[in-house]
Amino acid sequence: MHKMKLAIFDTHAYDREALTAANARYAHDITYLEPRLTRETASLASGFPAVCSFVNDRVDAQALATLHSGGTRLIALRSAGYNHVDLDQACGLGLVVVRVPEYSPHAVAEHTAALVLALNRKIHRAYNRVREANFSLEGLVGFDLFGKTCGIVGTGKIGAVVARIMQGFGCRLLAFDLNPNESLATEVSVRYTDLSELYREADIISLHVPLAPTTHHLIDAAALAQMKPGVMLINTGRGALLDSRALIDALKRGQVGAAGLDVYEEEEGVFFRNLSDQVLQDDVLARLLTFPNVLITSHQAFLTREALANIADTTLANVSAFERGEHLLNEVRAEQVLATVP
Ligand code: NAI
Repeated sequence: MHKMKLAIFDTHAYDREALTAANARYAHDITYLEPRLTRETASLASGFPAVCSFVNDRVDAQALATLHSGGTRLIALRSAGYNHVDLDQACGLGLVVVRVPEYSPHAVAEHTAALVLALNRKIHRAYNRVREANFSLEGLVGFDLFGKTCGIVGTGKIGAVVARIMQGFGCRLLAFDLNPNESLATEVSVRYTDLSELYREADIISLHVPLAPTTHHLIDAAALAQMKPGVMLINTGRGALLDSRALIDALKRGQVGAAGLDVYEEEEGVFFRNLSDQVLQDDVLARLLTFPNVLITSHQAFLTREALANIADTTLANVSAFERGEHLLNEVRAEQVLATVP
């Protein structure tokens, strides 16, 4: 048996349930921690050769140095994205980083479709109205998805599933990707194009590229200005793909007609927590929450039973592979970040 002492940060009941069930097959020595992994909390992992981290942890140089001096050798991310880890520093310290490259592209793509449908047919408003016995239809007019143009930015695992779903509605599909997927182009008649044509033509734009220095604020004021007035923008990728202040400005002018956001650039420390007894300190998020045509979910696109089970299984398998000294299929290396440079 290849057991490892593993400290798992930022755990909630649903994480613990899935990880404990999967660990019946691996028998690692797991300690669940509630805090996020940051430079302030990294010392909690002292004496643990492996730590497990999630998307809103901040695994910066100082956190890594503390982990390293506490004897940690492996950082197992239970996420696909790795933009929250200083990979150069991890590499410099000899810390190995692994991730879960694929756990359910369907979970994220289906949540993307849920945001499109809810925003378009104003389900969030209808739900509240009907509960108040307000059966009026004023302000609830949507549009047929059939025949509309959907622009998909990033057609990797998730973007490809989004393309298939949106084709099911009868949408015309445009896509932008550094590495166009020719078989997808044939399978669902996606037409690859440049960003300016996609912005100009699309009625719905959905973001599925990783966050990297080159994609930070990919959608800024200049990009928003090129889009069709009234465009629907969906972001289930990473918050900082989109400049939130520029989005607020575009929403106020009607340039953006609806925004569905599962991620937000300052979500760290806010999402995954119940702050309902507190005064929200983030004025940008507070402003976004006032728009009737903005629907925000707190990074829940991944949250299906299937995805949680796959995340748990791959994470614990990654830890076992490291312990056995096997080749690490899911290792993340610093040069992967550079691979996204256009
Ligand atoms: P993937 O690696 O399969 O696909 C990413 C695609 O983006 C690739 O086709 C790649 O060629 C393309 N790409 C990379 N950089 C680009 C650039 N600068 N310009 C144009 N195209 C570029 O990744 P996957 O699994 O589809 O996930 C996409 C992103 O979704 C992840 O990086 C993650 O940030 C986010 N995500 C969000 C979740 C949520 O719960 N909201 C859950 C899982 C992932």
